[in-house]
Amino acid sequence: MSGILAIMNGRDFDITDPSLADQGLRRIDWALSEMPVLRSLMERFTKEKPLDGVRVSGCLHITSETANLARVLIAGGADMVLCASNPLSTQDDVAAALVEHVGVPVFARRGESTEVYYRHVVAALDHKPQITLDDGADLVSEVHKNRRELLDTIMGGTEETTTGVVRLRAMAREGALGYPVIAVNDANTKHLFDNRYGTGQSAIDGFLRATNFLIAGRVFTVAGYGWCGKGIAMRAHGLGANIIITEVEPFKALEAAMDGFRVMPLAEAVRLSDFVVAVTGDKHVIDRHHFEAMKDGCVIANSGHFDVEINVPVLREMAVSTHRPRPSVEEFRLSDGRRIRLLAEGRLVNLAAAEGHPAAVMDMSFANQALCVAHIASHHAELEKTVHPVPGEIDEEVARLKLAAMGIEIDTLTPEQETYLASWREGT
Ligand SMILES: NC(=O)c1ccc[n+]([C@@H]2O[C@H](COP(=O)([O-])OP(=O)(O)OC[C@H]3O[C@@H](n4cnc5c(N)ncnc54)[C@H](O)[C@@H]3O)[C@@H](O)[C@H]2O)c1
Repeated sequence: MSGILAIMNGRDFDITDPSLADQGLRRIDWALSEMPVLRSLMERFTKEKPLDGVRVSGCLHITSETANLARVLIAGGADMVLCASNPLSTQDDVAAALVEHVGVPVFARRGESTEVYYRHVVAALDHKPQITLDDGADLVSEVHKNRRELLDTIMGGTEETTTGVVRLRAMAREGALGYPVIAVNDANTKHLFDNRYGTGQSAIDGFLRATNFLIAGRVFTVAGYGWCGKGIAMRAHGLGANIIITEVEPFKALEAAMDGFRVMPLAEAVRLSDFVVAVTGDKHVIDRHHFEAMKDGCVIANSGHFDVEINVPVLREMAVSTHRPRPSVEEFRLSDGRRIRLLAEGRLVNLAAAEGHPAAVMDMSFANQALCVAHIASHHAELEKTVHPVPGEIDEEVARLKLAAMGIEIDTLTPEQETYLASWREGT
């Protein structure tokens, strides 16, 4: 099968191998067993149908966790299609199961070219969505650049990741955003857990699966001490690495120093490092002068959203030869004999070389997504065309549902404490 030719119930889809559907379904069910909050929302959405007949297009990593979000939205009555939000993160068996067993047309093939990637984004928009779900703002961006006629019928959208929210805020600042978008990334129950513990664990998983190298006793540099960087540093430290942090923001640099890590410019860190990961959302963080100074054998990877953090074209230019010792490793030999090992082509290492975040953490991110999609369906008329925070009651509800699922109870304020905390009159 090639091109967007395959048809399901009269609708197009484009996936790698439909025969993988049963394997994909087993994997989706396995993930669901770790997603109690989504399971409870699935029951609620089945009864209440908050999305009855609403057309939804999602541009998300096609993973088993995303498949469970799709199940919840469909249980709520949505008419949904999906495309990938990264050419290397698609799980082809999950894509097949979504088509065959969940009834969602999917446009995603692992390893697709950039051209096919954007063709798939266009195909997802041909669904004429009323609500868009983005991870990196590619749907929003394509609608505003090339499909402006859709602006008349889109009620709103959601955005999953930091980089997408940065892009959307830039659009809103210029008055260019044509519909309201909820920044799911900014919910406490998203970035404090998904970005930190999810990326922390899964990026290390990517390093290990790609290289099977020992991390203990090695020098491991993390560029960017935001939520993701903190998670990766914490987990690499736990495995016995000697951590260096590089930053451009003084508060974050100070925080890293007081968390017990060495902080220095990247140009110095690369001379010492066995591993360097960029996770900043910024461009060309690892560049020519870093490659020129890098220690022989250094393993480099990106865990930020776009594949621009490492200047791979320059590395390619500098190399006298390259080879692929393992599927997710490309080794570049420089003219002085030094080797630099790039993981997963400089794309998100946790999704391209491993399986992305564990389901238990995506349970919270995607519960926010599901509740925000329902919120848009019922409140879109009141929402201004700008970037909105996740409503506080949704964020808190997700935290409470997760705590309940984990069997954790917490204290509640007494009336006396409520009065005390709300007043300024009482002192010592
Ligand atoms: N891999 C994943 O699965 C995953 C998950 C969530 C978010 N992300 C992506 O990871 C990136 C970071 O997300 P975050 O939530 O940690 O963002 P954040 O804003 O919390 O942190 C980014 C940090 O990078 C620093 N920074 C920027 N430019 C830098 C440079 N040149 N050198 C060193 N530090 C620099 C900033 O000062 C900031 O502290 C984004 O692209 C986001 O979309 C990836």
